[in-house]
Amino acid sequence: MHYYFYAIDSFIENILKLVYFIIIISYFCSKYLPMIVNVLDQKKSILNKFISEIRDTEIQKDSMRFRRNIERIGEIIAYEISQTLEFQNKIVSTPLGTKIVPVPKKDIVVCSILRAGLPLHSGLLNFFDDAENAFISAYRKHITETEFEIKVEYFASPNLDGKTLILADPMLATGQSLATVFEGLKKHGTPKEIHLACVIGAKEGIDYIKSHFPPNTKLWIATVDEHLNDKGYIVPGLGDAGDLSFGIKL
Ligand code: URA
Repeated sequence: MHYYFYAIDSFIENILKLVYFIIIISYFCSKYLPMIVNVLDQKKSILNKFISEIRDTEIQKDSMRFRRNIERIGEIIAYEISQTLEFQNKIVSTPLGTKIVPVPKKDIVVCSILRAGLPLHSGLLNFFDDAENAFISAYRKHITETEFEIKVEYFASPNLDGKTLILADPMLATGQSLATVFEGLKKHGTPKEIHLACVIGAKEGIDYIKSHFPPNTKLWIATVDEHLNDKGYIVPGLGDAGDLSFGIKL
């Protein structure tokens, strides 16, 4: 009898040890895993047509088409992100009965960097239509022809505590705008998860943001180019996404 209780005791002790081990491992994995980079053109889809049109020097002259293509890419990114979100069951009444449907939790904040981020924001919002919204202006203030610093002036954001933050910036060049904006956003709370939505990126920019965002951040990017030129533009890229969407600035 004594041995019987002893065996049960040590069995429970081992199970508890295993549970503690799993909890500790999952905590460290979620804290220290590297950023997850999802490059969407690695799988061939209609996305490639939209990317080819925004790059094409002739087609991109049509600013309405350019904006709509960025918006369509935003919709595709939203669909991809949606597959990773937390879902909750909703009881839906139809004219003929009821059905339980899993739907994403309503805790999303879409944040865009003005002004180039606006068409991408629109695309994300077409799918996450009940999301809250944040807008931040960030621009490159040139010190010399090739050196610049990021200036943030306009900042409007809801509280981010425990929410799903989707941060949109179409051109991930140096990564400095995204990192600067994220520093500012930290004052508005701690999101439970962060998704970065981008259209074209350069490898330098991706490496830079890897060290400026929490490790479990997910990057969703339509396509990645080889390098930046000495002015910090993506090559071959597409040019200036803000100008192509809204016209040239002084
Ligand atoms: N912003 C743009 O619009 N294009 C680039 O190539 C880099 C930053």
